[in-house]
Amino acid sequence: MFTLSIQLRRIIQKSTNCINTVRHLVVLGIETSCDDTGIAILTENGKVLGNVLNSQQKFHIRYGGIIPPRAEYLHRMKIVEVFERCLQEAQMAPEQLDAVAVTTRPGSCLPLSLIVGLRFAKHIARKYKKPLVPVHHMEAHGLQARMEQSIGYPFLCLLISGGHCQLAFVRSPTEFALLGQALDDAPGEAFDKIARRLRLPLLPKYSYWNGGQAIEDAAKNALNPAAFEFPLPLAHYRDCNFSFAGIKNNAFRNIRNAERLQGTPPDGIIHNYQDFCAGLLGAVSRHLMNRTQRALQFTLPWFEDGPRSLVVSGGVANNDFIFEDLTHLAAHFDCQTYRPSKKYCSDNGAMIAWNGIEQIKQNASCLRWDYDELDVCGKAPLGVNMLDAVAQAKLKCKWIQASHWRKGCDNVIIA
Ligand code: KG4
Ligand code: ZN
Repeated sequence: MFTLSIQLRRIIQKSTNCINTVRHLVVLGIETSCDDTGIAILTENGKVLGNVLNSQQKFHIRYGGIIPPRAEYLHRMKIVEVFERCLQEAQMAPEQLDAVAVTTRPGSCLPLSLIVGLRFAKHIARKYKKPLVPVHHMEAHGLQARMEQSIGYPFLCLLISGGHCQLAFVRSPTEFALLGQALDDAPGEAFDKIARRLRLPLLPKYSYWNGGQAIEDAAKNALNPAAFEFPLPLAHYRDCNFSFAGIKNNAFRNIRNAERLQGTPPDGIIHNYQDFCAGLLGAVSRHLMNRTQRALQFTLPWFEDGPRSLVVSGGVANNDFIFEDLTHLAAHFDCQTYRPSKKYCSDNGAMIAWNGIEQIKQNASCLRWDYDELDVCGKAPLGVNMLDAVAQAKLKCKWIQASHWRKGCDNVIIA
């Protein structure tokens, strides 16, 4: 099904004659859970030897969202090329790999995309006699920052992406305790839908940007961030769950009203869209801050006397406003905040390879030779469910005030 080019075969033949036998573990990572085909090769100390990403964003933006069978088709069309480019970048032959890590769960769109990655991983594993390491996509986001920075276990982790919003306490590469999760939309999903409704892609600058990125950029030029009101979801629930559907629906209402008042044509944008974006960002960030604050207060004793760390990851962690707010919040609890460098916040193959390396270093029994037993799983919980324990603690919090950027933009109303 998958065939290598003649050019790559030549590289393989040359390099298999001079494999270095005294070297670090080298792992290939394959990511296809959503709309990015990502493949990377890493050494066990986090050195990225090759990292290639084929984003489908330009294609999906034309259709106003991801169409799962098209995403699957594009993964299939691109995966061999991405693999070959990655080997070329790393100047390596597949024989030199020690293992192949691949995302098998959960699938942000549909399992269809995951299946392409797993099939390709099995093909490589069989052909070159390599073990496979199945990887949970959200666990991979959670550990990614450790690839580049020295962050010890345990740490609190906030995972914010287009498909998920989760708070987890992480004790080891495989020990996650789930403290909070989205009850409806994920924050990235809300940003993407709102940006489309606002018609930001009509502006040439944003025509190929994702919604979150466009909203962040537009917010920088706001003159009156308090021009629009947004709700503060779940304010009366003393747990750490998230809800972004209320903010999204309120955003749609705000846009509709503003369009009516301003007489905006069907192919136009409200003139104060930058104020709108800043207000929206403020509301999303405030909600993230409050839920993270409760999770921090809940887990403070779990850090014992060790350093306290908060790791923020996933595509929305790219957002500097949100990261600044969370850093400001965590500092009140003597807690250091981290995120991966920007190219690694969003989906990529390096995070999958790194997760494979962490798993192998913890326990080599994660290496799987029983390829046929491995399958994808569209829905897969993140660690041990502690949602009820958090809710039962009924922790009351005195909210930490917003950080500098949003003074004057605390326009949230208690829903
Ligand atoms: O982690 P990711 O690459 O894919 C999923 O696993 O979902 O996250 C993609 C999401 C998109 O919804 C996008 O709007 C959001 O990350 N995103 C951002 C920013 N960059 C990407 N959201 C807010 N601010 C950003 N700068
Ligand atoms: Zn992701």
